[in-house]
Amino acid sequence: MKKFKSIFIDSFEDFIHENLVSRPHEGFREIEEYAISARIPILSPASGEVLKYIVEKESPATILELGTGLGYSTLWMLSSGLPLKISSMERNQKCIQDAGRFIERYKLPSQKVELHEVHILRHLREQKHLDFDLCFVDCDKICYPELLEILLRILPDGSKLIFDNVFWHGRIQDESNDRPSDLAMKEFWQKVQVCSNPRTLFPVGDGLLLLSVQR
Ligand SMILES: C[S@@+](CC[C@H](N)C(=O)[O-])C[C@H]1O[C@@H](n2cnc3c(N)ncnc32)[C@H](O)[C@@H]1O
Repeated sequence: MKKFKSIFIDSFEDFIHENLVSRPHEGFREIEEYAISARIPILSPASGEVLKYIVEKESPATILELGTGLGYSTLWMLSSGLPLKISSMERNQKCIQDAGRFIERYKLPSQKVELHEVHILRHLREQKHLDFDLCFVDCDKICYPELLEILLRILPDGSKLIFDNVFWHGRIQDESNDRPSDLAMKEFWQKVQVCSNPRTLFPVGDGLLLLSVQR
């Protein structure tokens, strides 16, 4: 069978982000520009649009976010307009300050966001149960294999898990990539492939993976 030619040639992804993604308000462009100048990684705009779609479809009341960054992904989830309650975890104090400013400016009065300054793995290792309808993960990739195990164990049955960067910029494909984060993402995929949880891969941006918690 003839293989399809990849659409991700040259700068086509930039074209998608620049011209095709529909940003709910001007705050998104503002954060994108700030992220570039401050050299802080954020979710890709196209992934943000898909994240918003998943939130609208799943309609969670409560969300746990792991890796607040600048609050860009938080704002995509809030742009669903749902009366969400989001707890977002981040270890970097400056990120928390920046994200807090952006979120306060753009969230709806019916939406509540709490930012927690913690080390995610250290914090979650101590939890027996976490009561959230959806969890969005976008922190250090080295944490992903252990986070997958912990979250599938402590989140409620029927809740949803979304991991960003599951393609790890294509580095999961090549055996010669052996940085700790490469090995962690390969281990993450091995764990995903042996667990029987229903899942959907969204090949957008650096890859979004949606998993259902099911016991
Ligand atoms: C890719 S950025 C998150 C971007 C964010 N989702 C957005 O779209 O604005 C990853 C963030 O996770 C934080 N982080 C990474 N590992 C962490 C950990 N183990 N505990 C707490 N924060 C962590 C980093 O400080 C960084 O701000």
